[in-house]
Amino acid sequence: MHVKIAPSILSCDIGLLNSELDRIASADLVHVDVMDGHFVPNLTWGLPVVEAAVRHGGLPVDTHLMIEDPDRWAVDYANAGAKSVTFHAEAVTAPITLARRIRAAGAKASVAFRPSTDPGPYLDFIDEFDMVLVMTVEPGFGGQRFLDATLPKIRRVREAVTASGAQVLIQVDGGIDRKTIIGAAEAGADVFVAGSAVFGSSDPDAEIRFLRSEAERILRGTRFYQA
Ligand code: DX5
Ligand code: ZN
Repeated sequence: MHVKIAPSILSCDIGLLNSELDRIASADLVHVDVMDGHFVPNLTWGLPVVEAAVRHGGLPVDTHLMIEDPDRWAVDYANAGAKSVTFHAEAVTAPITLARRIRAAGAKASVAFRPSTDPGPYLDFIDEFDMVLVMTVEPGFGGQRFLDATLPKIRRVREAVTASGAQVLIQVDGGIDRKTIIGAAEAGADVFVAGSAVFGSSDPDAEIRFLRSEAERILRGTRFYQA
């Protein structure tokens, strides 16, 4: 079990994407938030920005689709070269089929849950996914406060993943910083998205390394840790 840190470019200077990506070279993934102004009350970017991040080539691209019709669009992101494609449980119509199509297109398939969405129905077929994203803020904006109320859900997903024996990463996204990463790691997360904490730092690479070492320290002390 290895901790991964995924800075979100929502908090970077998007006009300087290539040099902003150079500032996070020590990250494991780069997290790209696609928002359509319908599923969430904010509009960001789509395929061209994912393609630009893929072209940069420094880091695998982790795409978080906050869009109304992932059944229609998600595979295009896999074809664009994203390493992982996350769609929302609240928006998808055929999650198992879509996960299989994403995998067939060569990307990792991942499902996301808003803070108040029950992941229960998914836990019976968790092995259809490579990653589960537990949102720790309401999706839509960077810079929000981490919701402690999501910790039981992280634990519940971790229990289900451990019981299944499948290799499924657990990602948390929203309000992750030096303090909140501790509780999220204790609860069983192993992939941490951080936007403002990383790009708001004067030394993003050093911040990434700090966050990773904190999460590794905590995870090593948990009962589900596997070397
Ligand atoms: C929110 C996005 C997050 C966001 C995280 O809808 O999914 O990825 O950029 O930003 P911070 O780390 O600032 O909460
Ligand atoms: Zn995100």
